[in-house]
Amino acid sequence: MKKKVDLDWGSLGFSYIKTDYRYISRFKDGKWDDGQLVEDNNLVISEASTALHYGQQCFEGLKAYRTKDGDIQLFRPDQNAKRMIDSCNRIMMPEFPVERFIDACIQVVKANEDYVPPYGTGATLYLRPFLIGVGDNLGVRPAPEFIFSIFAVPVGPYFKGGMAPVNFMISDFDRAAPYGTGAAKVGGNYAASLLAHEKAVESGYADCIYLDPATHTNVEEVGAANFFGITKNNEFVTPKSPSILPSITKYSLMHIAENYLDMSVVERDCPINNIGEFIEAGACGTAAVITPIGGIKYKEDFTVFHSETEVGPVTKKLYDTLCGIQVGDINAPEGWIVKVK
Ligand code: PLP
Ligand code: COI
Repeated sequence: MKKKVDLDWGSLGFSYIKTDYRYISRFKDGKWDDGQLVEDNNLVISEASTALHYGQQCFEGLKAYRTKDGDIQLFRPDQNAKRMIDSCNRIMMPEFPVERFIDACIQVVKANEDYVPPYGTGATLYLRPFLIGVGDNLGVRPAPEFIFSIFAVPVGPYFKGGMAPVNFMISDFDRAAPYGTGAAKVGGNYAASLLAHEKAVESGYADCIYLDPATHTNVEEVGAANFFGITKNNEFVTPKSPSILPSITKYSLMHIAENYLDMSVVERDCPINNIGEFIEAGACGTAAVITPIGGIKYKEDFTVFHSETEVGPVTKKLYDTLCGIQVGDINAPEGWIVKVK
């Protein structure tokens, strides 16, 4: 008999909960197998897997949303599939095809349908696709075999408080190198961020902000999210750099700002010494959605944008439009929504 999923949807955070099914496909002898849904959430892999020693692994993050009518839909899964292909190419892993990626997402959501949070709770079903190098290998070279898998977890806000401003501090550490893997969603970038994150939290901030690794003068990433600022001229400004992760949320917000909110959109350097040019600022990403930035600490300075307690009006409009599109209340641009049921 199917067990009843009984969760307090409104109080979910961003933590692992084992759901019933995950998708797994294995790559061996130069090809992917057909893939299947399994119940076991443990992977048995060789002790000599490249994923364990040389960080040959990448991952993605996307969400399934419940609509007002009880339908379920995915937001731009093709973009995650394509970004995973880019990550795979950067660290020499085989591509998992876009159509199969989307189909696997749909299978996982359908199989775990009872875990898709109800409309209006603010919670969603987070999908975590990942691709890892496995099999027996010792030297520094690509793995002989690979695993692609997707699991699903119902989640609430990534930063405590959700759509409430939080403060960040500029880190002395880099998460990526100028010609490194910053633009790929590979695990090594996140291992490199753990200590910086810890130090920021110890100092009383929600997370750290990274400056560009070449000159340490421009804002790049906000923890595991992209940065945006709003100028007094109603411009949506976001950093342009080869070492930040190309955020699907960020590119979606750029489209929304231009086409739904009649703003101008600029990708350019955001110098930390001129960060006060922004009257509102935020972090954006699948997990973070939009998290308003109250203020940023840099050396001896603390710059407050709109307010440390109130959400700015432009940030609020961006958030409402993005979330409205994701849950089906607002018409989406063509191709952004994939129906699961
Ligand atoms: N930057 C980093 C380092 C991230 O890990 C993420 C999360 O995926 C993002 C930005 C936001 O990207 P997206 O909007 O595609 O989730
Ligand atoms: C996401 O937003 O999907 C992320 O990957 C952020 C973080 C949880 C790693």
